[in-house]
Amino acid sequence: MSKKRVAVLISGRGSNLQALLDAKQDVYEIVLVLANVPGALGLERARAAGVEALTLDHKPYGKNREAFERELNALLIARNIDIIALAGFMRVLTPYFVREWAGRMINIHPSLLPKYPGTRTHERALEANDAEHGCTVHVVVEEVDAGEMLGQERLRINPGDTPEILATRVLELEHQLYPRCLTEFASRV
Ligand code: GRF
Repeated sequence: MSKKRVAVLISGRGSNLQALLDAKQDVYEIVLVLANVPGALGLERARAAGVEALTLDHKPYGKNREAFERELNALLIARNIDIIALAGFMRVLTPYFVREWAGRMINIHPSLLPKYPGTRTHERALEANDAEHGCTVHVVVEEVDAGEMLGQERLRINPGDTPEILATRVLELEHQLYPRCLTEFASRV
């Protein structure tokens, strides 16, 4: 069976992208990394790995999210992409784009969904005095940070943990979880 062609969409540092690049890519192959933010650090990681790195700046499109996404979609189709992995891609996607990629797009989120969709997940877990926290990989649907869960990693919150400490601890778990979930997902789609 041929490897699934994966595009990773990023906006920033790309540490999850790095984990996906470093993993044994035997059922998937990252063939494109695309950032909506010029100069995103993750683009360098892609180039260092010999993967095509593109920037599609969302700013010139202003409020016209769909126009940006139509351009994005064309770039993906031109490269025969099978699966999109969102990895710190800080754009909410419109129903148009989500429908185009229904069942073929996944995301990683730094909370134990369904708890804490959206932002400030580490702060919210601490504010709620949660005993546990973690991260989730899920299929992307129109509702933000919802969709079938493909896997979770969890940790125990320690006394004295701050949002920063939790962010670091959760990120380490993300780097283990995402390659595993992408591998499983790529084997089944
Ligand atoms: C991660 O915490 C991820 O869960 C969230 O955005 C962050 C991206 O970090 N969606 P990186 O760019 O992969 O380092």
